[in-house]
Amino acid sequence: MPDPDDPLAWARDHTPILRSFAEEYGETRPFDGYTVAVASHLEAKTGVLIETLHAAGAEVLFAPSEPQSTHGDVVNALDAVEGITAFAEEGMSDEAFDAAQHDLLEREPDFILDDGCELIAKVHADHPEVAAGVLGGGEQTTAGVTRLEAMDEEGVLEFPVYSVNDTPMKHFFDNVHGTGESSLTNIAISTNSIISGKTVVVAGYGYCGRGVARKARGMGAQTVVTEIDSRKALEAHMDGHRVMSMDEAAEEGDLFVTTTGNRDVLRREHFEKMADGAMLANSGHFDVEIVVEDLEAMAEDVSDPKEGVTRYHLPDGRRLDLLADGRLVNLTGPYSQGHPAEVMDTTFAMMFVAARDMLTGDDRLSAGVYAIPDRLDRAVADRKLETLDVSIDELTDSQRAYYDDWEHADSSF
Ligand code: NAI
Repeated sequence: MPDPDDPLAWARDHTPILRSFAEEYGETRPFDGYTVAVASHLEAKTGVLIETLHAAGAEVLFAPSEPQSTHGDVVNALDAVEGITAFAEEGMSDEAFDAAQHDLLEREPDFILDDGCELIAKVHADHPEVAAGVLGGGEQTTAGVTRLEAMDEEGVLEFPVYSVNDTPMKHFFDNVHGTGESSLTNIAISTNSIISGKTVVVAGYGYCGRGVARKARGMGAQTVVTEIDSRKALEAHMDGHRVMSMDEAAEEGDLFVTTTGNRDVLRREHFEKMADGAMLANSGHFDVEIVVEDLEAMAEDVSDPKEGVTRYHLPDGRRLDLLADGRLVNLTGPYSQGHPAEVMDTTFAMMFVAARDMLTGDDRLSAGVYAIPDRLDRAVADRKLETLDVSIDELTDSQRAYYDDWEHADSSF
């Protein structure tokens, strides 16, 4: 039975890979002598990653990656452990969040596990002497990797960073299934409304958008996808979603979910066309995908009909409902718990192995953005299947020989 007074107990029960790492690496302690910084959404699953790193020998410093998603009980429980230090509290202002990340960086971490590249960008921009001593990093989000690549291109990146987001064990599960399920669940709970029968417009058909669109359809919604990439648009079309421009979709949608990693995706020209009661949610990048300033400028009145819902009353009588202030709906809404624990188990396992490989591997990488070696990805997949008690087949000798023989000399054709 999870201990009701331990805010990490439930998450720990549902993160078996991390539990197995804590057990295994609690003995070998690969992070002994290293200080690892973690910037992420500070709730129970991140807490389990932090305590797993600590069990494996690391001194851990942690700060939020988003000021509104911090759970105070988790922060307090972790901060009470010797060797773990919080630079966070629940309900921080944007300024306090910023200051906390700077305070953390002044403690000169050896390794940075980041979510959105904010901490890595800050150490380069404002603490160059600290950046020079950082041995490496790992980044778990699409948007963060895009920022890292821009830094690398400009030649300013000072240390090697593993792109955890781009590893199959992350994006096929976290982005697709985690974002898909947790976004729709939170939208349904915070509005107390049904997804089935609604026209759900999903902006972006990347990993997250695919998850949201497929699961919305699975729940009985009519789905519309908007894209800027013709191949993704075609994929959405072939998957059975209707594809159109946002200009057209704006008139059709009951619920809009942005998942693009881009800015200004839903803006004034779209709000002007939306039906009364349309709901707007963002599951993509920070709070810039929906232009809230446009809603504010257009509205003659603003009300809060429900916790986590801001209603914009337009002069023509239409009401548009913005969820979670346009921030990530699955993480910052009033009922949000982020991704399901089982999904974060694989993502955080990849963050853990990224740190372990870079800090303890034989080769020191030069500055740059790197894919995680495939062997690490497979090892986490194997571990996940073990925890699920799922067996798979192994190649037989003849099958392996068949793969290796390009002439297929034994073929009967
Ligand atoms: P992705 O790169 O696979 O997909 C983004 C898609 O959006 C691309 O297909 C792109 O062509 C499309 N796009 C870009 N601008 C657009 C526009 N103006 N209109 C329509 N489509 C547009 O990225 P992925 O992995 O799906 O991630 C998307 C965003 O979600 C990122 O910001 C990422 O950091 C974030 N994310 C959020 C999570 C959450 O918990 N809410 C979890 C994982 C990622």
